[in-house]
Amino acid sequence: MFLEVQNVTKVFRSSENEKPIVAVKDLSLSVPRGEFLCILGPIGCGKSTLLNMIAGFERPTKGRILLEGKPITGPGPDRVMVFQEETLFPWMTVLENIRFGLRFKGLSEEETEEEARRYLSLVGLEKFGDFRPHELSGGMKRKAELARALALNPKLLLMDEPLSSIDAISKMSLLQEILSIWEKSRKTIVYVTHNIDEALFLADRIIVLTARPAQVKREVVIHNPKPRDLLGSEMIDLKRQLIEELAQSHALEEHVLTPG
Ligand SMILES: Nc1ncnc2c1ncn2[C@@H]1O[C@H](COP(=O)(O)OP(=O)(O)OP(=O)(O)O)[C@@H](O)[C@H]1O
Ligand SMILES: [Mg+2]
Repeated sequence: MFLEVQNVTKVFRSSENEKPIVAVKDLSLSVPRGEFLCILGPIGCGKSTLLNMIAGFERPTKGRILLEGKPITGPGPDRVMVFQEETLFPWMTVLENIRFGLRFKGLSEEETEEEARRYLSLVGLEKFGDFRPHELSGGMKRKAELARALALNPKLLLMDEPLSSIDAISKMSLLQEILSIWEKSRKTIVYVTHNIDEALFLADRIIVLTARPAQVKREVVIHNPKPRDLLGSEMIDLKRQLIEELAQSHALEEHVLTPG
């Protein structure tokens, strides 16, 4: 198996006197190479924590995570994360932002320029290489970040709610962009979201998580060919089921958060 999360628990202890927070509890999942996996879960359930452990930014309290059979012990160039927040360097142009990471790969100046331009055009931003991030729309910035991540040619692309701050119209075109990038590159992608439509549009498989602590609640394999019509009856049925699953998770969360 390409990626395996085995019985992972993550407990945060912020200080001696405070109660520890169990963010993820005994969670297992596996991802075959080339899969587009969406992880769907309510707000605050532990999605980012799970992704951060796969990225190697956090260590599991219990359990282990294997990539191609080898335990993940820290961050590595084989995994790249696209974050929820904007992470472009504001003082660099778009092109410089993409070249920045490539320098660490030991490429020559010419090669980094060529690679960066290639990925810029992959996301349709070839004309914006010399712009600075503040001169781009929110959607264009997301594309630039996507290009920067892809340029590093990771084995595994981790995406943490990359479209949560994007308006509904730009979102549709970005979803199509992400899909076409996945189709061209056939990268393995783990995409975290609390948005059902995003998951239905992108995923080969959706894993629904419970409210905190995150555990696998349900798994849905979607065989329908992509791009999918989210207004088709099958997708609407699935959406209804997923809304129910998430509503239950949310109710559980309210229960957990209610004192006493
Ligand atoms: N570094 C940390 N230290 C202490 N607690 C943390 C830390 N990171 C996350 N938590 C806690 O773990 C729980 C899960 O957080 P996490 O960010 O993984 O949720 P999420 O599902 O990504 O939420 P959202 O939908 O808001 O992005 C929260 O209660 C959070 O406060
Ligand atoms: Mg999060």
